[in-house]
Amino acid sequence: MNTNDNHIYVIFGASGDLTKRKLVPALYSLFVQNLLPEKFALLGVSRSDFTDTEFRTAMESAIKEFKEIDDTSHVEAFVKKIHYQSIQFNDASTYLPLKQRLEKLRTEEKIGGNTVFYLSTPPSLYGIIPQHLASVGLNLQNDGWKRLIIEKPFGYDLESALKLKDQLLKDWQEDQLFRIDHYLGKETVQNLLVTRFSNGIFEPLWNRNYIDHVEITSAESIGVEKRGGYYETSGALRDMVQNHLLQVAAITAMESPSSLEPIAIRNEILKVFQSLRPIKKEDVKTNAIRGQYLAATVKNEKVPGYRDEEGVNPESVTETYAAIKFYIDNWRWGGVPFYIRTGKRLPTRVTEVVIHFKPTPHFLFSGGPVCSSCNQLVIRIQPDEGVLLKFGMKTPGAGFEVQTVNMDFHYSDLTNQRIPSAYERLIYDSMKGDSTLFARTEEVIEAWKFLSPVIDCWKNDKDVPLFGYPAGTWGPETADDLIEDRDMTWRYPCKNLSDDGIYCEL
Ligand code: BG6
Repeated sequence: MNTNDNHIYVIFGASGDLTKRKLVPALYSLFVQNLLPEKFALLGVSRSDFTDTEFRTAMESAIKEFKEIDDTSHVEAFVKKIHYQSIQFNDASTYLPLKQRLEKLRTEEKIGGNTVFYLSTPPSLYGIIPQHLASVGLNLQNDGWKRLIIEKPFGYDLESALKLKDQLLKDWQEDQLFRIDHYLGKETVQNLLVTRFSNGIFEPLWNRNYIDHVEITSAESIGVEKRGGYYETSGALRDMVQNHLLQVAAITAMESPSSLEPIAIRNEILKVFQSLRPIKKEDVKTNAIRGQYLAATVKNEKVPGYRDEEGVNPESVTETYAAIKFYIDNWRWGGVPFYIRTGKRLPTRVTEVVIHFKPTPHFLFSGGPVCSSCNQLVIRIQPDEGVLLKFGMKTPGAGFEVQTVNMDFHYSDLTNQRIPSAYERLIYDSMKGDSTLFARTEEVIEAWKFLSPVIDCWKNDKDVPLFGYPAGTWGPETADDLIEDRDMTWRYPCKNLSDDGIYCEL
């Protein structure tokens, strides 16, 4: 049964790329699955001057470009629900006409007062729009619920995140705020919870007694593309680590929640953020490595260096690669290093969590252990989503030679199981008021607090190197030292590139 309350979905930044590529296609998908409420309207809001018809036509093309369409009559029916209102985001006087437009839509479509406001705008507007909405009473819940969805980044550093927090919480309640971290919408990230807590065999080993270290890699083969302007204000640490990858680390490390209630899960996630051991200023150099990609020929194609990308300062010191080593100070994880690395223009696109188990205490067989940590559990978040367990087996024949073999599961083996896009899942949850998969204020603040010494050092300490790495490689070699000081290595899932360069072992 469809239990989604009737509501209006308002997207600020409706003429932007995210609306076209992700938001409207996701809403369309929900429509096709009959998951939208009976009475529903989508109101696009941005600076551009569109009529309803022009905006509908643009969204129709976007759906056709970004979704596989089985039946065009669905598209026609869906776009009829779309409307448009032009607004000057900074101009308080344009919010009254917006309110009147919403009231008109509510009356015409008999929808009622429930409203989602999705901010798909530059982050500089995250303080301003909610404040203007509140100034005309659009935050008030007397005639139905009001929710505010905010895209990352939530602030630029600790100071700006605290300021944004105060701005938002002045007019809005915490339970009205939904901070999107699209990694939490990924099926495979959620599966981390299920793998851990629905099986009796992993959890007894999931601690400092059996785990040597945890590695989280998120590699992208693309460069910054047309987002040089944004990326210059961000860099890999803010773009990927502060949010997506620390969230993945928290889900990997959290205790079992007492129930599946959002508050129970989010409380456990928050505790992990609160247990992150601060990185001392003097340790930044050895525990955090940054790099920037250089021009190179990748798969017979010349690709530009970061400094030559559109919108990028030719002398930029923005990192396109970041790797950090850190600890979670609690009973479960005391002394276990966690490693996160991420970068653009690496050899392939892959995101995975690797649990490296401790080696056996005494190695009996000939040839010595085949690797320093033979047992690994690889949770592949994307692509080729799945899970892989590596373990030692006897090589057939005389003696007792050991080789490492794999036991694996691929999501693609599940027939007829469509994996919803992250946005589809998160948009649907926000409509239902389920905040489980959204970042809570305190988590965001703790994440900024944790990264502050690295951010400060990379900004102010000219002695901390920014390593160049040729596009198409695994980043600065110095990042290997983070792990190799312990006689371990990163997992290189795509080390053995085949001719087309995309073969990755799961
Ligand atoms: C975004 C970052 O949040 O995540 C991008 O801003 C990055 O720079 C993207 O490319 C990665 O997302 P995904 O889902 O492709 O791994």
